Amino acid sequence: MTLNWTAENIPDLTGKIAIVTGANSGIGYEIARALAGRHARVILACRNKDKGEAAVWQIVQEYPAAKAEWMQLDLSNLASVHRLADEFTRRHCGRLDILINNAGIMAVPFGKTVDGFELHFGTNHLGHFALTGLLLDSIINTPQARVVTVSSGGHRFGRINFDDPNGEQNYDRQGAYAQSKLANLLFTYELQRRFEHAGLDTIAVAAHPGWTVTNLQAYWWLLRVLNPFIGQKPKMGALPTLYAATAPEVQGGDYYGPSGWQELGGYPTKVQSSDRSHDQVAAAKLWTLSEELTGVRYH
Ligand SMILES: NC(=O)c1ccc[n+]([C@@H]2O[C@H](COP(=O)([O-])OP(=O)(O)OC[C@H]3O[C@@H](n4cnc5c(N)ncnc54)[C@H](OP(=O)(O)O)[C@@H]3O)[C@@H](O)[C@H]2O)c1
Repeated sequence: MTLNWTAENIPDLTGKIAIVTGANSGIGYEIARALAGRHARVILACRNKDKGEAAVWQIVQEYPAAKAEWMQLDLSNLASVHRLADEFTRRHCGRLDILINNAGIMAVPFGKTVDGFELHFGTNHLGHFALTGLLLDSIINTPQARVVTVSSGGHRFGRINFDDPNGEQNYDRQGAYAQSKLANLLFTYELQRRFEHAGLDTIAVAAHPGWTVTNLQAYWWLLRVLNPFIGQKPKMGALPTLYAATAPEVQGGDYYGPSGWQELGGYPTKVQSSDRSHDQVAAAKLWTLSEELTGVRYH
């Protein structure tokens, strides 16, 4: 792999279509910006119209020829996920080269999505599970398409509480985030196994941004205090995901993160995830649960 890989190493993406969830701020914005700068058509899938349009405007200021557009997506509302998938499929004739499941929330107080799921589990995992499933036809009909899901080093502290996935009996904000980020990895590896089993050339890949200063830390004061000393800039934090989404040597089931100390910062490299993230029994169980809860079935 290229040493000190940066966004300048992204190949020309002319003709490719990408969706980036949560692209109005932080890492997602930098991902969308970099993809648009390499000539991909980029859909910024964001929940807030003003923020989504402002992000598009900013990208177009920098790259006047950019093909960037905002589409409404609230991952905490399955009806919104269905609407985006339907509208995207209609507008883009069933072609999707790169889906980046990036949006996320961290350590927020207990709350529920419109459909009654705990906010982290519902937004970070179930929303993306449903989105990917609803876009699956477009993805697998596009040669060598990629699904990239953004996890976190925090997945190592996660456990899937199958008895209480929505934290109704015992809610712990950090634990709920860690569970959702472990779910992102279990989902990625299971999706890759399914692509392989079906003999498809589509790949599922995961990435994490290390410690990056963004709005994500809004509900965790200690991380905010440490941000100036440890956190890297969103442009750097975006690199592992950009690598996973575009580098030719990436393989299905790979996981990328920063190469520095404790994977907190630095240029992208292939990293290892926890043993628990490779538990195939848990992955299959989570898959079935996710299909039941969202009503989205992969076929
Ligand atoms: N920053 C880090 O150090 C770090 C570390 C590990 C992993 N990550 C992961 O990196 C990803 C990006 O986070 P970030 O650090 O860039 O944080 P961020 O700046 O807060 O960006 C998160 C994005 O997700 C969007 N979002 C939140 N809830 C949503 C919903 N219900 N529907 C649609 N979009 C929603 C936000 O939209 P609004 O602006 O409308 O809220 C925002 O665009 C997350 O998956 C996070 O878990 C980050």
